[in-house]
Amino acid sequence: MSAPTTNPLRVGLRQERVIPPQCLVIFGASGDLTHRKLIPALFQLFKQRRLPSEFAILGCARRQWSDEVFRNKMETALGEEAKKDKNATTQFLRSLFYESIDLQKTEDINKLSTRLEELDRLKATHGNRTFYLSVSPTFYGSGCKALANAGLLNDPKRSRLVIEKPFGRDYSSAQALNQLVQSCCQESQVYRIDHYLGKETVQNILVLRFANTIFEPIWNRNYISSVQITAAETVGVEERAGYYESSGALRDMVQNHLTQMLAITAMEPPGHFDPEAIRNEKAKVLQAAHLADEGEPWACCIRGQYERGGTKTNPILSYREEPGVNSNSTTETYLATKLFIDNWRWQGVPFYLRTGKRLAKRLSEIVLTFRESPVHLFDAAGGSPTANQLILRIQPDEGAEFRFEVKSPGSGMRSRPVEMEFSYEESFGEHSDEGYVRLLADAMLGDPTLFTRGDEVEAAWRLYTPLLELIEDSPWQLPIYPYESRTWGPAESDALLSKDGLLWRRP
Ligand code: BG6
Repeated sequence: MSAPTTNPLRVGLRQERVIPPQCLVIFGASGDLTHRKLIPALFQLFKQRRLPSEFAILGCARRQWSDEVFRNKMETALGEEAKKDKNATTQFLRSLFYESIDLQKTEDINKLSTRLEELDRLKATHGNRTFYLSVSPTFYGSGCKALANAGLLNDPKRSRLVIEKPFGRDYSSAQALNQLVQSCCQESQVYRIDHYLGKETVQNILVLRFANTIFEPIWNRNYISSVQITAAETVGVEERAGYYESSGALRDMVQNHLTQMLAITAMEPPGHFDPEAIRNEKAKVLQAAHLADEGEPWACCIRGQYERGGTKTNPILSYREEPGVNSNSTTETYLATKLFIDNWRWQGVPFYLRTGKRLAKRLSEIVLTFRESPVHLFDAAGGSPTANQLILRIQPDEGAEFRFEVKSPGSGMRSRPVEMEFSYEESFGEHSDEGYVRLLADAMLGDPTLFTRGDEVEAAWRLYTPLLELIEDSPWQLPIYPYESRTWGPAESDALLSKDGLLWRRP
C-alpha cells in the first residue's frame, strides 16, 4: 500500500469560499508593503487557486511605469517564490496592470475610471472593485474623498475600501478620519487592516475559547490572576525611520496589534459567529479597558530605546545611529504598560502589554496565569508551586502550551511543573499563511470579521490617550530608558511587574 501523500489531519480543512470576479486596485503600488506583503500574498492565493479567472490587479502610484515594468518589478518582489514555479508566475503576472495615478489630481481620477471600465471589459470583472489604500496615512482621507467624488464608491455591494494602519494618530484624528470616510461610503464598505488579526493563531484564540467547554468557565477573574501580552522583535527600525520617528512603539504596535490581541483574549462570547456580533464584543471590551493608573500614567508605563549591542563580528547600531533617525531622538522602540478592564469578568486582573524592537528573541505570545492553589500540600521543586499558565504562542512556532504541576518521580511527594503542548506545524504539517493572505481574501469576499470597525479603532486610541498626551506635553515624566540590543528591554520594565510580585515570562 502506498503511503498517504496528504496529512490526514488536514483532510477537509480547506473549505475555501470562492472570491467573486473583481479588480483589486492597489494605491501605493510602488511601495514597500506592495512588494513585501501584498503581491506575495496574492501570489499565494493564486497558487492555492483561490483567485477567480476573472481577476485583475491594477497597481497605481505616481511613478510613470508601464504594465510591463510593473510586472517585472513584482516578479523581482516575488524572489525565490517566482523561480520555484515559472509557469504559475507567468500566469499570475498576466493579471497585473499598472496606471500612473496621483489621487490628488482630478484628471488622474478620470483616467482611473476609464482604465477600470476597460479592465472590466477585458477581464469580465463585473464592476466589482476592492480599493486598497497602501499610501502614506496623510492621504487616507483625501484618497477616499477622491474615489467617492468620482462615484467609485457608490455601489456598496460592488466597491470596497481597504485602509492600512495607522488609522489616525490619536483619538481625535481617528474620529475625524472615521467621519470623513463614513461620509464617503458606508461603514460596511470599509476594511481597516490590522494584519495581526490575519494570523491563524490570533483567530485560534476564538476557537480555543468558544469551541471548547473547559476554558470558558475559568476564563475570568475568579481563576486568572494576570495576563501578559508580548510582541517582541529582533529587527530594528529597518528602512522605516521616516515613519517610525513620528510613530514609536505605542502607535506602531501597542494601539493596534497588541490591543487587538487583548480584545480577542478578553471579549465576551458573541451570540453567534457573525462579523457584527464579534466586533460588538471587541468594541465593548475595549470601551471597558483603561490604563492601570489613568491619573498618573507614568506609574504604569515604561518606555525604552535600543542601544548598541550584538557581537564584535556582528555589531548592532543603536536606534539613534540608524539611518534617518535623529541623533537625539526620544522615540520609544520599547513600551510596556499595564491595563485593567472594568467589567464583571476581568475586574482587578492586570493585563501587561509589552513590545520592542531589537529584543532577545522574535516572539509574540499571550500568557494567562492562573491563581495559585489555596493550600500547598506538597513540597515544590522550585520552593513553591508554579502557578498554572496557558501560553498562546502567536509566532513563531505557532501553538499553545499549558503548564501544570506533576509529581516528581521518586519516593517523596514533591511537585514540579511540566508542559503540555500543541504545535500547528506538528499537528497540521505546515506553517500557516501570512496574515495578508487571509485578509486580502476576506476583503475581496466581503467578510469584515477580521477587520477593525470604526468604533473599535476609536476605543483603542482612547485607551492610550493619557500616555499620548503625556508624551506630547511633558515627555520628561515618561523618560526613555536605554537598553542593550538583543536583551529583553530596560530593567525598569521588570519593576512594572515586580511591584505586583510578578515577573515577565522569559521564554
Ligand atoms: C507592523 C509594524 O505593523 O508590524 C512593524 O509597523 C512591525 O514595525 C510589524 O515590525 C510586526 O509584524 P509581524 O507580523 O512581523 O509580527
